[in-house]
Amino acid sequence: MDLSAADHRIPLSDGNSIPVIGIGTYSEPKITSKGDCLTAVKMAIDTGYRHIDGAYIYKNEHEVGEAIREKIAEGKVQREDIFYCGKLWATKLDPEWVRPTLEKTLSVLQLDYVDLYIIEVPMAFKPGDEVYPRDENGRWLYHNTNLCATWEALEACKDAGLVKSLGVSNFNRRQLELILNKPGLKHKPVSNQVECHPYFTQTKLLKFCQQHDIVLIAYSPLGTSRNPIWVNTSSPPLLKDALLNSLGKKYNKTAAQVVLRFNIQRGVVVIPKSFNPERIKENFQVFDFSLTEDDMNKIEALNKNTRFVELLMWCDHPEYPFHDEY
Ligand SMILES: NC(=O)c1ccc[n+]([C@@H]2O[C@H](COP(=O)([O-])OP(=O)(O)OC[C@H]3O[C@@H](n4cnc5c(N)ncnc54)[C@H](OP(=O)(O)O)[C@@H]3O)[C@@H](O)[C@H]2O)c1
Repeated sequence: MDLSAADHRIPLSDGNSIPVIGIGTYSEPKITSKGDCLTAVKMAIDTGYRHIDGAYIYKNEHEVGEAIREKIAEGKVQREDIFYCGKLWATKLDPEWVRPTLEKTLSVLQLDYVDLYIIEVPMAFKPGDEVYPRDENGRWLYHNTNLCATWEALEACKDAGLVKSLGVSNFNRRQLELILNKPGLKHKPVSNQVECHPYFTQTKLLKFCQQHDIVLIAYSPLGTSRNPIWVNTSSPPLLKDALLNSLGKKYNKTAAQVVLRFNIQRGVVVIPKSFNPERIKENFQVFDFSLTEDDMNKIEALNKNTRFVELLMWCDHPEYPFHDEY
């Protein structure tokens, strides 16, 4: 992969392209104040990020939209320079909900289109406005849906110009094949957004995706915020790893920069989240060094094959993606 290009983008199978680094925008509501996301996204754009990863359910999509629109109004960027990825949530997978849900995201963002729209999880929940629907006993209200029908509704959104590229997230190989082998497939998924970092390298899924021209987008590339509510904290903190820190010293970089560079160098897009000015800049300083093949292999060998994001609360869902090997 040529990473010398000024804007560091990689091609997608539909003719579009994706910047190899984006800013993640999921932040725990308890530690986030109004305006934090707005400030962070504006700072990210000033720093050089052109890719922003968001979602309606992150509850800050309006701030992302405001930041993008402000930077366009300032003349800092044009709309076509920005790559925004939005997500279709689990309660909106029935085909009739797809377009209205994307239109809702567009009205919140106040933008005419998103660059990438992805199915956030392959598991459908009871349709409606309750994001995490449960019954009176606290049991999750799952829903049967046909992911191929969801996909056809997404294809119609692309044909209508509401989205440039279509993708998925948290899909395993079988679920990707379901879409890839769908009779009459019009638009292939261009990307699969999954957890990926040196402790969970996704070697097999990455190979499968590369064989099918699907770009792997690494979420939680720094090992998450380690919020025990949704993160498996029994695995040690990634950025404290001794090898990653010693490589950081060798390259005069931080462990965070080493892990981001590792993924970028193997063709994986990274979307580190930071709302901190120094760390937003730090995470973008990954284009002025490259890891040797030997060091890449050493990092790859750190793989523990354990996830930080297991989504175990939904492990009895018929489409729970993580029972399969990959
Ligand atoms: N599709 C999905 O199911 C899914 C799931 C999870 C996440 N995501 C997306 O992926 C994005 C990133 O994943 P994530 O938020 O789970 O985790 P992450 O990016 O791996 O880590 C974020 C945490 O690391 C800290 N941090 C950032 N830069 C750092 C640095 N240079 N050194 C030390 N600490 C640093 C952040 O704190 P500060 O903000 O204080 O810097 C935050 O606590 C999310 O924001 C979201 O957009 C998608």
